[in-house]
Amino acid sequence: MNREQISRIAHTEHPIKSPLSDESVRRLLERGLPRGEERVLDLGCGTGEWLLRALSMRPGVRAEGVDISEDALAEAAAAASDLGVRDRLVLHHRKAEEFVSEEPFDVVLSFGAAHAFGGLLPTLAAARRHLAPGGLVLIGDGFWERPPSREAVEMLGDFTDLATTVDRVVAEGWTPVDGHVSTRQELDDYEWACWGSLAAWALDHPDDPDSGEALRTATARRTEWLRVYRDPFGFFSLVLRRTPGSD
Ligand SMILES: C[S@@+](CC[C@H](N)C(=O)[O-])C[C@H]1O[C@@H](n2cnc3c(N)ncnc32)[C@H](O)[C@@H]1O
Repeated sequence: MNREQISRIAHTEHPIKSPLSDESVRRLLERGLPRGEERVLDLGCGTGEWLLRALSMRPGVRAEGVDISEDALAEAAAAASDLGVRDRLVLHHRKAEEFVSEEPFDVVLSFGAAHAFGGLLPTLAAARRHLAPGGLVLIGDGFWERPPSREAVEMLGDFTDLATTVDRVVAEGWTPVDGHVSTRQELDDYEWACWGSLAAWALDHPDDPDSGEALRTATARRTEWLRVYRDPFGFFSLVLRRTPGSD
């Protein structure tokens, strides 16, 4: 099984690929789309779940998504057609760091994709290049709630604590105008949904040649979560505007 197949099954019950509840996603989008007629860009959009929700909530919004996964983009396109929002969604199959657009965007989103840019601050620098004056960035990434083990850092990356993370964002010329710290429930719901869905798929398809590997992967990933990063890992979301005088 490749990563994409595993990811597709693992996210069956939790299509947003971050530890955020549907209500948290809705609240962040409402905060990010105050006029309801914004042009929105999602860097690392995956299956387009954030954009699909934005387009469904706001009939005046137009959106573009960028991702390197052809399969994820095909899923996004099919879901957009089913929801009747396909005519307001443009999908780009390319590296987000190489994406260029003639027109800037009112809102730039990026959730769980900072690794593609080499971390949070480079992701914000990329978002800024696409942002119209007065625009908003909605971004979500990990932080260390508690000091991590070396194994946790090797597994998830080199985050900092929340206060230091926000200080660094502010030092780059951003002002947080809203935010959210994923609750214990959101963090746990996400992991149970991912590794539970993969395990359930394996049990439901005992004759599939991938069944054994899927079950072993679900067990290994659940164990890594419980033993290595459940305790130190946290996830924040920020709604950001440029700080006056910082450009
Ligand atoms: C954890 S998923 C998040 C997807 C989506 N933002 C969400 O929250 O549902 C990370 C996504 O980043 C994409 N990705 C990884 N590297 C990328 C790159 N260099 N450019 C664009 N997308 C990338 C992956 O294909 C994947 O869809």
